[in-house]
Amino acid sequence: MEMLDIISKVHDESRQGEAFVPFKDDVNEYQKKFYIESYGCQMNFSDSEIVASILNNEGFGATRNYEEADLVLLNTCSIREKAEQTVRKRLTEFRKIKDAKPGMLIGVLGCMAERLKSKFLEEEKLVDMVVGPDAYRSLPGLIEEAETGQKAVNVLLSREETYADISPVRLDSNGVTAFISIMRGCNNMCSFCVVPFTRGRERSRDAYSIVAEAQDLFNKGFREVTLLGQNVDSYYWIDETKNEIVTFAKLLEKVALVHPDLRIRFSTSHPKDITEEVLRTIAKYENICKYIHLPVQSGSTRVLQLMNRTYTREWYIAKVNQVKNIIPECGISSDIIAGFCTETEEDHHDTLSIMQHSKYDMSYMFIYSERPGTLAARRYKDDVPEEIKKRRLQEIVALQGKLSFESNQRDIGKSFKVLIEGDSKRSSDDWMGRNTQNKVIVFSKGNRDLKKGDYAWVKVNDCTQATLLGEII
Ligand code: 5AD
Ligand code: SF4
Repeated sequence: MEMLDIISKVHDESRQGEAFVPFKDDVNEYQKKFYIESYGCQMNFSDSEIVASILNNEGFGATRNYEEADLVLLNTCSIREKAEQTVRKRLTEFRKIKDAKPGMLIGVLGCMAERLKSKFLEEEKLVDMVVGPDAYRSLPGLIEEAETGQKAVNVLLSREETYADISPVRLDSNGVTAFISIMRGCNNMCSFCVVPFTRGRERSRDAYSIVAEAQDLFNKGFREVTLLGQNVDSYYWIDETKNEIVTFAKLLEKVALVHPDLRIRFSTSHPKDITEEVLRTIAKYENICKYIHLPVQSGSTRVLQLMNRTYTREWYIAKVNQVKNIIPECGISSDIIAGFCTETEEDHHDTLSIMQHSKYDMSYMFIYSERPGTLAARRYKDDVPEEIKKRRLQEIVALQGKLSFESNQRDIGKSFKVLIEGDSKRSSDDWMGRNTQNKVIVFSKGNRDLKKGDYAWVKVNDCTQATLLGEII
């Protein structure tokens, strides 16, 4: 179980297919109800909050029970074949309800909608709407169209859309941590990746609206925001009123200045784009978390080149060293792909050894899954046998388990400032929170009068592979 825990954090298995939870303090009465389920990355979950906001304005209230919904939406992911299979399976389950309730509309949103476009309507006969990630503003019109019995499709990608002015309805919120989307799309062309095709070109959101959203969250009691984008380091926005260029480092600083008690995290970085200025900004502000997700993908220069990652093994190692020089206490995590096209046993060992060098605290680990239309699918043969891919993944997972455990053991005896997120999963006598390095810490509530959203100083005295255990000091 422990192993699965580590594999599935970004694509947090416990959140895959999570349904939108209606907010408790909404006093409005709605005529119609929508149900939305989300798959994939944090960006997708964040998009579902935008969709919820748009639908609320149209008089749709949220429900957790799809059987009572007038509108059922799946916000989908295309990153690996398995993600798409999960969605197709879910759609067949909806068929039964649709048969019993013919007026109910079913919509597919997100990356799979974008990838398959109107093909979806041919393949999955029960789908009424297909809406890509840049087309959510057109949902009201599309719903109207679908209500007349026509199939409605909008998969146009945009060069400008950032949904900057739409204030997201917070999904399943713990009231302490929230996501803020800062840029959309991706201009990198990693050869394995479908994202540039499903989410389009990079564009950055107005910095003022980002800072205002952070301030608003802080005022509502939130104490941590994660700035989200497919490639946050390429954030770039020109403030025309002040003639100022806002880089990602500048943006981090602006959000950090909202309040010292508001923690800032961000995801995801491309190693080639994270600048020294960003690292120095992280070091400068106590409330910018000392944690960087720095996906390596492979440790072999030859494979990295085929992946079009634009760095070598040595360059990546130098980047990790730079991070550790500038921010000595920084936590680092990674994404790793096993069995990319042409990967040899030697390449695989390069991956294992770069993991050891980087001492990742945590990794998301995947078997290569060929995606139609990507550069890799067009140029290279998916030639590593499934059995070998699986065995290599297992070796990567086992090594990461060891590295995570060692990393946690190094923390025994240390004290950390922990932001309390809520009760621990196992017991309401214990709090669960995170330290700046993003490690989960569980500790006894004791007789202290603390609540979620508070900070506590906790001394670590034990650990498992996935969790630190401590006591309040
Ligand atoms: N196969 C396997 N893993 C992939 N990822 C992206 N595309 C693929 C693919 N085709 C992984 C990468 C990326 C993470 C979000 O998903 O490691 O960083
Ligand atoms: Fe999945 Fe990538 Fe789309 Fe996120 S951006 S939903 S990970 S395909």
